[in-house]
Amino acid sequence: MPGLSEMQTAIDSALNDHLPGSSELAPRLVEAMRYAVLGSGKHIRPLLTCATATSLGASLDHALTPGCAVEFLHAYSLIHDDLPSMDDDDLRRGRPSCHRAFDEATAILAGDALQALAFECVIGAPGLSAETRIEMAGALARSVGHAGMVGGQALDIAATGANLELDQLRSMHAAKTGALISVSVRLGVLIAGEAAVPGLDAFGEHLGLAFQVVDDLLDVTGSTESLGKAAGADRVRGKSTFPALVGLEGARHTIKALHADALSSLAEAGIHSGPLVDIAAWIIARET
Ligand code: IPE
Ligand code: IPE
Ligand code: MG
Ligand code: MG
Ligand code: MG
Repeated sequence: MPGLSEMQTAIDSALNDHLPGSSELAPRLVEAMRYAVLGSGKHIRPLLTCATATSLGASLDHALTPGCAVEFLHAYSLIHDDLPSMDDDDLRRGRPSCHRAFDEATAILAGDALQALAFECVIGAPGLSAETRIEMAGALARSVGHAGMVGGQALDIAATGANLELDQLRSMHAAKTGALISVSVRLGVLIAGEAAVPGLDAFGEHLGLAFQVVDDLLDVTGSTESLGKAAGADRVRGKSTFPALVGLEGARHTIKALHADALSSLAEAGIHSGPLVDIAAWIIARET
């Protein structure tokens, strides 16, 4: 089974290969797409797809194109998340966010084009049956639509300056961030030719929620330099976050509990060590 650094290297080059290199029709658009995807992203989501697939016996090659699809959807979500009408953030991964490096119209369109490219990738993923590719496309579409990422983002905007109850906050985080992380695991299962593996859906859900709670906490405890995005922005904007609702210790406690739940779910799948355990530890260790 390939290790995480081998997967990272393979993901880096697959992302580069699947992006358009240039365009006579829309050169600036393509430049913005490449800018938003290539850079210092952690690639947690494609790593989860590759690690799940290979842990279940699939080849890394078969997981790379679906992994790129998830990363393209993630990059699109970040471009739109940073827009003035959303979080209005000027810094992303230590450099100007896409609409600052280009312009707002180009950024919106780059996000739109990355979303389309993601579905092109997943539908045409090499080495997988038509049935698997259709299943993957459906799962991905659900994860980023009104009941997933975009729905969660809508609630995030509606909840800015408002006070959510804890269960509403959990649902918002599960949708805006958890859905894309859990579908990254789900794609790995499908790539391995399984309909479902006990424990792995729950693993993705626990890890996805933990990921956003860590992100909320880092907004308070991290520095702009280490995060590559403006620290403290959530409080300034009145965002509904775990630290705002339950405090720093409450958020840390939530993360520990979700990590423990994620590991028990993996154990249910018979997985006690390896890249999925390591990715979960890495996500949690970002804050603790
Ligand atoms: C940031 O995601 C946005 C959230 C969903 C919290 P990541 O922390 O995965 O961003 P990159 O891709 O590594 O920059
Ligand atoms: C973003 O959440 C979730 C997305 C769907 C992009 P945040 O707004 O907290 O992400 P950052 O902190 O800007 O990366
Ligand atoms: Mg946001
Ligand atoms: Mg944001
Ligand atoms: Mg954040």
